[in-house]
Amino acid sequence: MRINIAIDGPSAAGKSTIAKLLCKELGYVHLDTGAMYRCTALKALRNNIPLDEEEAVCHMLEGTDITLKPEGSVFLDGEDVSKAIREDAVSMAASDVSKLQHVRADLVARQQEMAKAKGFIMDGRDIGTVVLTDAEVKIYMTASAHARALRRLKQNQESGLSVSDLATIEKEIEARDWQDMHREFSPLKKADDAIEVDTSNLTIEETVARIREIAEPFLKLEG
Ligand code: DC
Repeated sequence: MRINIAIDGPSAAGKSTIAKLLCKELGYVHLDTGAMYRCTALKALRNNIPLDEEEAVCHMLEGTDITLKPEGSVFLDGEDVSKAIREDAVSMAASDVSKLQHVRADLVARQQEMAKAKGFIMDGRDIGTVVLTDAEVKIYMTASAHARALRRLKQNQESGLSVSDLATIEKEIEARDWQDMHREFSPLKKADDAIEVDTSNLTIEETVARIREIAEPFLKLEG
């Protein structure tokens, strides 16, 4: 029997990078739930739907196909939007639509359906607290805002995205954290049974090893 691993934490803490690498080691599939909020935001922006109009955004979402491919690319209604959803303008918009209760309900139901088969590492903000409350392993991954801003800057430069300066990125990260932690529905918080991993002073390899160590007793139980 395979297990599910939930990874929550603030933006740019390294959740996706670590989840991808650990998936390779374990033969598991990564589900990046943030990409689903990003797709919702991107489509709303493109269609000039105000991000705080819950009914309109929900109606749009009902007819929307979001597909997370096992190798990591993201498709919105059949279009590869893997790069478009990473633009800075989409990040805050994703945080905005993620405040809407019925948007969350729609996406959470999709995520729960996807993870039914087990063998997933799912990352987001509410995975351990709402989406997969029965995940065998729950990690709360954090890092200082400065460390996260440095990583995001490097990531954006490497992937050819438009790049803001470090101070702007750090401010944007702090604003988004605040909004994600203080929203009314499913705010970002550590699940009581999650283990906190602070990656500020850890390399990617050290972080993967640390999470693997936490998951090891449960992986041993796999048939
Ligand atoms: O992980 P990310 O930065 O790609 O997520 C984008 C936004 O989506 C984030 O600011 C908050 C929201 N989000 C959420 O509310 N719940 C999730 N499970 C994942 C993301």
